Amino acid sequence: MEKGERLYEGKAKIIYSTDDPDLVVLYFKDEATAFDGKKKGIIESKGVVNNRMSSRIFEYLEERGVRTHFVKMLSEREMLVRRLEIIPVEVIVRNVVAGSLAKRMGVEEGTPLKETVLELYYKSDPLGDPMINEYHIKAFGLAEEDELRVMKETALRVNDLLKPFFDERGIILVDFKLEFGRHRGDILLGDEITPDGCRLWDRETKEKMDKDRFRRDLGRVEEAYRDVLEKVLS
Ligand code: TMP
Ligand code: ASP
Repeated sequence: MEKGERLYEGKAKIIYSTDDPDLVVLYFKDEATAFDGKKKGIIESKGVVNNRMSSRIFEYLEERGVRTHFVKMLSEREMLVRRLEIIPVEVIVRNVVAGSLAKRMGVEEGTPLKETVLELYYKSDPLGDPMINEYHIKAFGLAEEDELRVMKETALRVNDLLKPFFDERGIILVDFKLEFGRHRGDILLGDEITPDGCRLWDRETKEKMDKDRFRRDLGRVEEAYRDVLEKVLS
C-alpha cells in the first residue's frame, strides 16, 4: 500500500490517497481548535493518542458488529481507513447533561438524564454546525431516510457498547459525537472516537479527561489524554 497525495486537510487530521481507490490514510495532528476554530492550540502528542485510541475503539466496535471505516493502524499517527463520502450530519449522543445541552436547557452540568439524548447537527464550519432535525435532513437532502435510520441505530448501539467499556475503566461516557459516510452502498462509522469528540469524566473524582480541559483552560491537557489512552488500552 503506497501513500499518495494529500487530498484534504481538516482541523485535526490530514487525508492522503493510496494506490487503492477504496482506501485512504488518516494522519492525526496535534493541532486543537475549539469554538468554531476561534481558539487554536497544540496538544502535545494528541495525534498519537487519538490514533491509538480510535484504532482500539474501532477494533472493539467491529468485533461487536459495528461497521466502521477502520482497516488498520499503520504507524503512530497514521490509520488506514475505507474511503467515505462523508454525510454532513453529526450525531451526538448524551448520557449526562454537559456543554451546550446544559446551556440550552439551563440545567447544571453533571445532571443525569432520564433517557439517552440523540441530537443531529449540520456539519458546516462556516455556519458553526447548527442543530437540525430529521425534517431538515430530508428537506435539504443531506441523507436518505434509511441512511438516517442506520446512523441513529448505530449511534445508540455504539453508546450501549462504549458506556460499559469506559465504566470498566473508571470513566463516565458523558457524551460523544459521531460522523458517518457512504462506502460502496453501505453506511460506515467514520472520523475518530477520541477525547476531542467525547466527554469523559473520572468516575470517582468527576475530573474532566477530554478536550474540555483545552476549551476551558483547565490545564493538564496532555496528561488527561495520556491517562485516557492508558485506561482504554488496559
Ligand atoms: P456540545 O455539548 O458542545 O454540543 O458537545 C457535545 C459533544 O460533541 C462533546 O463530547 C464534544 C463533541 N463535539 C465535537 O466533537 N465537535 C464539535 O464541534 C462540538 C461542538 C462538539
Ligand atoms: N473542534 C471544533 C471547532 O474548532 C469544536 C470543538 O470541538 O469544540 O470548532
